[in-house]
Amino acid sequence: MSSIEQTLSIIKPDAVERKLTEKIKEKFLENKLTIKNQKKIQISKEEAAEFYKVHQTKPFYDRLCSYLSSGPIVVMILEGEKAITLNRKIMGATDPKKADDGTIRKEFGISIDKNSVHGSDSTGNAKKEIEFFFK
Ligand code: CDP
Ligand code: MG
Repeated sequence: MSSIEQTLSIIKPDAVERKLTEKIKEKFLENKLTIKNQKKIQISKEEAAEFYKVHQTKPFYDRLCSYLSSGPIVVMILEGEKAITLNRKIMGATDPKKADDGTIRKEFGISIDKNSVHGSDSTGNAKKEIEFFFK
């Protein structure tokens, strides 16, 4: 049974700054995801705080929001068969040190906070996150 999904991807400031945008997009394309919409933007700390609200009780929340708003990011809608879990697989584990070979975070991530990409983790969050940036 086919299940085409959409998910939200963000290329984070560390990767945009190091000019890795095209290399990261290639990872999605070679794994059969298509890029339906994309834009390069910079968000405010308040917007980052809204986007990452699920993490508001975490010790890293303030640092995370400062970081995501610290420079340009590329936000994209990715589409494909089981796109949400496929994208998470292409990204690799949150901590680049624990990510599998060939994943974006393993190849390009610097640290657990500067880990180059964000990807939605569920159908509900994918819908919310796409609406946050593209509605
Ligand atoms: O991004 P992912 O869904 O893999 O991880 P998360 O647990 O939802 O955490 C969101 C983001 O917070 C991560 O991508 C990291 O950038 C950051 N984080 C951090 O800075 N320090 C931690 N101990 C855990 C997460
Ligand atoms: Mg997450």
